[in-house]
Amino acid sequence: MTTGDDPVRLAVLGSGNGSNFQALADAMADGRLKARAVCVLSNVPDAFILERARRLGIPAEYIDPSPFKTKLDGPAEARVLDRLRHYGAELVALAGFMMIVKARLLAAYPGRIVNIHPSLLPRYPGLHAWRQALDDGATESGCTVHIVDAGTDTGPILLQRMVPVLAGDTAETLHARIQAQEHEAYPEALRRVIDALPRSRPDGAGRS
Ligand code: GRF
Repeated sequence: MTTGDDPVRLAVLGSGNGSNFQALADAMADGRLKARAVCVLSNVPDAFILERARRLGIPAEYIDPSPFKTKLDGPAEARVLDRLRHYGAELVALAGFMMIVKARLLAAYPGRIVNIHPSLLPRYPGLHAWRQALDDGATESGCTVHIVDAGTDTGPILLQRMVPVLAGDTAETLHARIQAQEHEAYPEALRRVIDALPRSRPDGAGRS
């Protein structure tokens, strides 16, 4: 039985490099984050996030996203839900997960799916937010950690970090500056979520 003293069982979903997952894993390892990564799931079979998890001894699984490419729905959604239940996940962190989360997963983890986005939302939702900021001539951008809802990058904001857009910035230099902030912001925001999370008590009362 999970009690308030146990580390929160965290699942991470990602599609790419996994540097934000790494930042979370580092924070769990050094005690900043009272959580344990129970699994990493990816819709991309050779995503480096899976390799990072394996190196840390964390179960890492490819989830076939078909029949959809950009939304987690139908059989792929069912597969993810099955794995989350199998690993007893209490909280889900999206870390560069390039699929839209749909209703069944949202209903299974109400207010318990968190995302990090590379802009100061509500500005520049969607893909390549750092490039959007550059194209828009923005003088500042940053990152946002938020609770996931049914929209695209629209859920309640937990924490934001600002970075300047500098003269001569390219998409790569701006994204790198934003990512440095992401790696601090995500563990901090998740720490706050975990502190506020209702947990089951040993007698079963207050089960959430
Ligand atoms: C990050 O910039 C994050 O904000 C966005 O996708 C990127 C993932 O990077 N959602 P990584 O895979 O964590 O390195």
